[in-house]
This record gives sequence, C-alpha cells and structure tokens, in this order.
Amino acid sequence: MLDKIQQIKAEMEQLHAQTLEDAEALRIKYLSKKGLIPQLMEDFRSVPAEMKKEVGIKINELKTLAQERINALKESLATQETAGANIDLTRTPYPISLGSRHPITIVKNEIVDIFSRLGFTLAEGPEVEDDWHVYSSMNFADDHPARDMQDTFFVESHPDIILRSHTSSVQARVMERQQPPIRVICPGRVYRNEAISARAHCFFHQVEGLYVDKNVSFTDLKQVLLLFAQEMFGPDTKIRLRPSYFPFTEPSAEMDISCHLCGGKGCSFCKHTGWVEILGCGMVDPAVLEANGIDSKVYSGYAFGMGIERITNLKYQVKDLRMFSENDLRFLDEFKAAN
Ligand code: PHE
Repeated sequence: MLDKIQQIKAEMEQLHAQTLEDAEALRIKYLSKKGLIPQLMEDFRSVPAEMKKEVGIKINELKTLAQERINALKESLATQETAGANIDLTRTPYPISLGSRHPITIVKNEIVDIFSRLGFTLAEGPEVEDDWHVYSSMNFADDHPARDMQDTFFVESHPDIILRSHTSSVQARVMERQQPPIRVICPGRVYRNEAISARAHCFFHQVEGLYVDKNVSFTDLKQVLLLFAQEMFGPDTKIRLRPSYFPFTEPSAEMDISCHLCGGKGCSFCKHTGWVEILGCGMVDPAVLEANGIDSKVYSGYAFGMGIERITNLKYQVKDLRMFSENDLRFLDEFKAAN
C-alpha cells in the first residue's frame, strides 16, 4: 500500500499535459470516483489497525498534492489558450499611444524649475495636517474665519486633524526643523469646503515659497516675483503689487501681472483692466518666525503663494476648473505638445 502511494506521488511530480482535455483526463484518472486515489481510499479499509494512522495521513497528503498539481496545470493551460486566442502576434506595435502629463503637473514643474534656478529647494508635507501647522503657527487667531467650517474640512471626531487649506503648513514644518537660511518652494494639493462650480473646487493646487535669512527685504521679494512673472509669461510682463492682508505676512500684498493676452491694453479676459491677479505675498510676520523657533530680531523673510490652477488658466485659458479633475482624455490630450 505504501509503495503504491509512493509510486503515484512520483507520478505527480512528472505530471504534464498539452491541452485542457489532457489535464481533465488526468483528473479523471487520479481523482474521479473510480480514479486511482479514491481507489486507495477503498483499499484503506483493509489496512491493519496499527498502520491506519500513518497510511491515512499519506493518502490525504497525496490527494491534496494531486488536486493542487492538476488545478495548477489547468490554470496555466487556460491562460495560455485564451492568450493565444486573443493576441495577433503579427500585428505591428506602432503607433504606440503615449500618455501626456497633466496640465497641472506641467505648470507645477515649470514653476518649481524657475524657482530652483533661483536657489529654492523643494519641500513637501502631509495633506492631512493638524491645526497647529495649518493655522496656529501661521498666526491665525483662534476665532479667525478661515478656520470656520465653511473653509476647512475636519476629520470627523478629531477637531484638531484637518485637510490642509493651504501649503503654508509645509513652511511651518520646514521652519520647525531648520534654522535660516531657508529657501524653499512647496507645491501641493489643498482642500477647501467650497461648492464645486466652473470657478471653484473643493481641492486645488498651490505653490508657496519661503525665504528666511538675515536682511531679507521687500525689495528682494519684488525682484524675485518680477523675474518669476517674466520667466513664466514672457519678458515683457509687468507686475503690480496691491496692499492686502494675510495673517502670516506683514506687510502683505497681492500681485497682478499685465494681461498677457492683450498686452495690458484691456480685453474681456482681464475685464478691461489690463491686469490679472496671480498671487499673494508679503514679509513673514515676526510672530510666525517666533512661533516656529526662529529669532525674529536676527532674521526676516518673505513668503508668497499662488494657485497652480489659476496660473494654468492664464497660460492655457481653461474655462472650467472642473476639467482639471474629470480626466477627460480629449482635454488631457491637448497638452501633449507642452510635455
Ligand atoms: N497661503 C495663502 C493662501 O492660501 C497664500 C500666501 C502665501 C499669501 C504666502 C502670502 C504669503 O491664500
């Protein structure tokens, strides 16, 4: 009996089949009701009692082995057969349809490239953040309206854990682990609780920049932003700074560029003003430096932040913000040339 088991086991190691029918024939031979292995089980009755345990275990092992081997054979034959049936091996692989980068990625890379040429290094941080890095360390008062339910997505049951509403949180994370000189550019996705329309979305992308060192002045900021605008929108681009307010910068400004569609003469795109707004900026508020462990008597800094969607719209005149997240290939294919 043990010899017989051993012999069938050896056969299992050699098992092979050309077609699914062959494999099925093997199953019938070994495993069907009258097959060799059920036959062994029949014979098992006459095994002397003292050997029953050993033989029983061996038969069961053999049965499992046979099932596994035959199933594996069938599976590999099945995939071979379907693959063979569906693939025309004589077909030419050309033209290979290449994908293209997403317009937001294209513009993000361009922005990051311009600032890396100016000595900024890339910094990234988490999208799920805590209140400290997004708001408190950025000098938002406890009752500042931007923390309001209208703007911020909270993680249910964790009022302190939120989806970041701007990438300034990355600046906080850089400052808390590094002393000046700091020169970073922080791209990333941000979230705001807004109704989705052609002009607003509940998530979008920003790039923020931060420069902290001794004697950093507003003039440095202005010069860097002028250079950025001219690299991004062409050498004739002019910039204009308007006073504004952000909790984390003082003084603060919003920057417009001369409308690159009409060259500043006025058109429907710039609402006949000749200017379009592109970013917010300012000198880092000393309270922000202090909250992040940087001595504001020794160091000063500037920061700026812009929406990538907005810059992309200006470059490519995308009319509806929702197109950026719908993944319609007809839209995405239009950016192939820009890759
Ligand atoms: N964090 C600001 C925003 O989300 C942008 C900004 C960054 C403004 C840095 C000034 C300085 O709107």
